[in-house]
Amino acid sequence: MSDEPVLTFEESSKLGKVASVDTSRVLIAVENAALLPRAAVGSLIAIQGATAQEFLIGMTERVTRQLREQMAQVDPMEPTTLALEVVPDDSIRVVLLGTYRTIEGSIRNRFKRGADSFPQIDRGCFLLEGGNLQRFMGLLGKDLDEKQRLELGHFVIDSSAVAIANGDRFFQRHAAILGSTGSGKSCAVSLILERANARAHVNIVVFDMHGEYASLANPPAPPGGTAPQPIAGAFKIAGPGDLDAPTDNAIFLPYWLLNREEMLSMILDRSDQNAPNQASRFTLHVRGLKEGTLDAETKPDVKATFTVDSPIPYKLNDLIARLKFDDTAKGVGAKGQPVKGDWEGRLTRFISRLEAKAEDRRYGFMFKPPEAALNYNWLATQVSKILASGQGNSGIKIVDFSEVPSDVLPVVTGVFARLLYDVQFWMDPEKRTPFVFVCDEAHLYLPVRENAGAIEKQGLYSFERVAKEGRKYGVSLLVVSQRPSDVSRTILSQCNNFLVLRLTNDQDQNVVRRLMPDSLAGVLDGLPLLDIGEGLLLGDAILLPARIKLKFPAIEPLSQTRNFWQEWEEMAPDTNAVKAAVETLRRQSRTTYEG
Ligand SMILES: Nc1ncnc2c1ncn2[C@@H]1O[C@H](COP(=O)(O)OP(=O)(O)O)[C@@H](O)[C@H]1O
Ligand SMILES: [Mg+2]
Repeated sequence: MSDEPVLTFEESSKLGKVASVDTSRVLIAVENAALLPRAAVGSLIAIQGATAQEFLIGMTERVTRQLREQMAQVDPMEPTTLALEVVPDDSIRVVLLGTYRTIEGSIRNRFKRGADSFPQIDRGCFLLEGGNLQRFMGLLGKDLDEKQRLELGHFVIDSSAVAIANGDRFFQRHAAILGSTGSGKSCAVSLILERANARAHVNIVVFDMHGEYASLANPPAPPGGTAPQPIAGAFKIAGPGDLDAPTDNAIFLPYWLLNREEMLSMILDRSDQNAPNQASRFTLHVRGLKEGTLDAETKPDVKATFTVDSPIPYKLNDLIARLKFDDTAKGVGAKGQPVKGDWEGRLTRFISRLEAKAEDRRYGFMFKPPEAALNYNWLATQVSKILASGQGNSGIKIVDFSEVPSDVLPVVTGVFARLLYDVQFWMDPEKRTPFVFVCDEAHLYLPVRENAGAIEKQGLYSFERVAKEGRKYGVSLLVVSQRPSDVSRTILSQCNNFLVLRLTNDQDQNVVRRLMPDSLAGVLDGLPLLDIGEGLLLGDAILLPARIKLKFPAIEPLSQTRNFWQEWEEMAPDTNAVKAAVETLRRQSRTTYEG
């Protein structure tokens, strides 16, 4: 960009003058009524600042034309005839966003966030349009290093200007993509993944709840064309059909990975009067069994400091056997006669709950892991598969959670996230590659705390920890949801960047409003009106809160949108498909069997 000032205004393009000022808003009395129709909500306005080199930049919140009646002299030749005349009283309310200087020190054309001074009454105001607007929008991404640029689409107010966010800032302190169903969230995620994939050592784990992002790992070929290059690797939490011959991409989260609280949230019935006994016997035995493994593996140094929560394999059957022993063992009376044992009959219900879970194939990813998962070294290999990128695998990992039973989904997502986070936490700081968890459909497993049950609280805890401390260890969240009002406030309020797409529900809009500074309230009023794939990008990744049209991703996520009307015309129901589905339902596995 040349050294010429980015903003230059003719006197004829002057919109009006500053009429009133409060802390962040300015009321402009419009003098050039002809310019008013060109100002829309969201237009940018430049207000002459304290010096000739300075302009304060604001965004239009409200444009008002009020008609006022006044007495006017109709005919100068007849000064005594007065008539009522209607004149416009135009005003524009603007919220201040930043300061532009043609020169600051040795730097030319500088724009920064925040108003450096309050505008003075009667200062001139100009509408940013045409060349001024184009040059100004170009300025926004100018200071970004080539390495930081995250290109998302173009600005709605000037479609020739590319909308570029600061990729470092976007991920540094968590981000959220919020919008009603069908507003374009999944496509936005795809686009961001596509951009991220251009980095040599990208490291992203996507929590895919509906198998929507499978196309990123296996892109379908367009009609008559060739399929684009995949940008991600596909993994799935092992479903009932993956247990017998698990593929390399099936992820197991064996019970022994769960910490005490996670396990108890699933098995223990807190209303049972024996719950404290059950929890304490469980803890004792798990600790004992883990200790046994460490002995067998001769790991004295681990044994010296491990806790019951340390991920160390043990056999589930051994645990059940020990619990059953407690549950049936008789005590010995003072005279050596058998009496009721200390734990006798107290663990029965706990054991049967544990056995029921262990037998249920839907929980197979946890309780029926392959034999190899009992090996001491299994965990390191598994975690490397997910965390170590750039070794022939894609650094973007799509993890399909669609077959995980919904009652334990929050624990499973939580255990998975906690495990990766813990490994990152304990890793040599010099060797950590930062990574991002993309939490699609976050309302399903990151609920508002007040609505969370025991299981959900466990999962929530892991993610809230990442939200609060993750930045220090290079772990960040990208929270995606259609129901922001159902998503943990603790997590949302830690997010520093928001891409808010069309949002129609009042409650959801209110949540977003409360997350934003007051000054943006007017800008957010437009949320229900955004087009598909259009959103407001707010936060420290971009200099100006801006309405942008997102670029459509090269690989579309598998669409959830069906064309009912058209398909009723074109697609006949298929009896065989219904019958096959009934069998699939019974099998609880989509994997097709021969015959
Ligand atoms: N940037 C975009 N430009 C044009 N169409 C889009 C864009 N983003 C999404 N769409 C369309 O909108 C529909 C819904 O998008 P999707 O990303 O699945 O929404 P969501 O995840 O919010 O439910 C899709 O059919 C997609 O083709
Ligand atoms: Mg979606």
